[in-house]
Amino acid sequence: MSETAVGFAGIGRMGLPMAQNVLRAGFPLTVWNRTSARCAPLVEDGATLADTPAELATANVVVTMVADADAARAVLVDSSLLARLAPGTVVLEMSTIGPTAAVELADSAREHGVDLLDAPVSGSVTVAESAQLFAMVGGEASAYERATPVLNAMTKGHVLLGGSGAGAAMKLALNSMIAVTDVSLAETLALAERFGIDRGQAYDVIAGGALASPFVQYKRPAFLHPETTPVAFTTALMRKDVVLAEELASRLETEIETASAAGRVLDRAIDAGLADEDMASVIRLFASHNGAEPPQSPPDTREG
Ligand SMILES: NC(=O)c1ccc[n+]([C@@H]2O[C@H](COP(=O)([O-])OP(=O)(O)OC[C@H]3O[C@@H](n4cnc5c(N)ncnc54)[C@H](OP(=O)(O)O)[C@@H]3O)[C@@H](O)[C@H]2O)c1
Repeated sequence: MSETAVGFAGIGRMGLPMAQNVLRAGFPLTVWNRTSARCAPLVEDGATLADTPAELATANVVVTMVADADAARAVLVDSSLLARLAPGTVVLEMSTIGPTAAVELADSAREHGVDLLDAPVSGSVTVAESAQLFAMVGGEASAYERATPVLNAMTKGHVLLGGSGAGAAMKLALNSMIAVTDVSLAETLALAERFGIDRGQAYDVIAGGALASPFVQYKRPAFLHPETTPVAFTTALMRKDVVLAEELASRLETEIETASAAGRVLDRAIDAGLADEDMASVIRLFASHNGAEPPQSPPDTREG
C-alpha cells in the first residue's frame, strides 16, 4: 500500500477507469463527482466518497478529469479546494482545457503553495481501462517526480514537455489531428460505401494499410456498430478541443486549416443533433443509410 493518498474529481467516461486504476495500484483513494452516483463502482471497490471537492483536501496528489476549463475552475477554485490543500500537494489536471486555462490554474495553485501540472492524456475509454493512456505534462520537474507513481498507475507512459501549459498545448496540437482523422475516416468510409463497398470491408482495407493506427483500430466498433458501441468521446468534446486549438493557433500566429475544416463538419454534426453521440457519428452526415439515398447501382467509372 502506497503512502500517497489520492483525491480524484471527475468520474466521467474517462475518470472512472482512470480512478479504478489508481485504486488497483493500491493508493488510498477519495473520489468526488458532481453526479455522485457515478462514484458507486469505486466506492464498492474501497474508495471513500467525498460530498464536496473541498473534501479531497487530505490528499497528497489530486487528479481532476472533468469536461472543460469551466468545470476545472469550479472543482479547483470555486469549491476552495486549492486553498485547502496542504502546501506541497500536487494537482494533476488531466482534462483537456488548453494552455491558457492551465497556466491560470497553475498560478492560482502556486498562491497556495500547491503545484498544478497540466497532464492531459492521449487515448480513449478502452485505452484508459487498460491503463494504456499517454500523458503530456507541463509544470515543475519536482512536482512531476512526486506525481509520477500516480501517473504510472493510469498510463503506459508520460513525458514532461516544459513549464505550465506545455502538456495542454501539446494535447491541443494532437487533438486537432484526431479531429481531422475522425472526419477523414468518416468521409472515406462513406465514399466507399456510396460506391457499394461494404463498410466493414472498407474498414479492413484502411486498418490493414499504411494509415492503420491505434485510433483506427479502436474506433472500429464505433464506425461499424454504432448502435451497440458505448459513446467514448462525444462530438461536443471533440469540437471543444478544435475550438481551443484554433484559439491557440491564432495566438501563436499559425494555421490549422484542416482541423478548422474538420471543426466545421463537427459543427454540422452538432446541428444535426449528434453533440452527445460518439465523434464517429459524423459519418451519419455522409453515410447512405442516414437519409441520403445511395446510387441505385455503382457509378460508371469508365473514363472519357
Ligand atoms: N473520452 C475520451 O476519449 C477522452 C480522451 C482524452 C481526453 N478526454 C478529455 O477528458 C475530459 C473528460 O472527458 P470524458 O469523456 O470523461 O467526459 P464525460 O464523460 O462527459 O465526463 C465529464 C466529467 O466532467 C464533470 N463535469 C462537467 N461539468 C462539470 C462542472 N461544471 N463541475 C464539475 N464537474 C463537471 C462531469 O460530471 P457529471 O458526471 O456530474 O456530469 C463528468 O465527471 C475532457 O476534457 C475530454 O476532452 C476525453
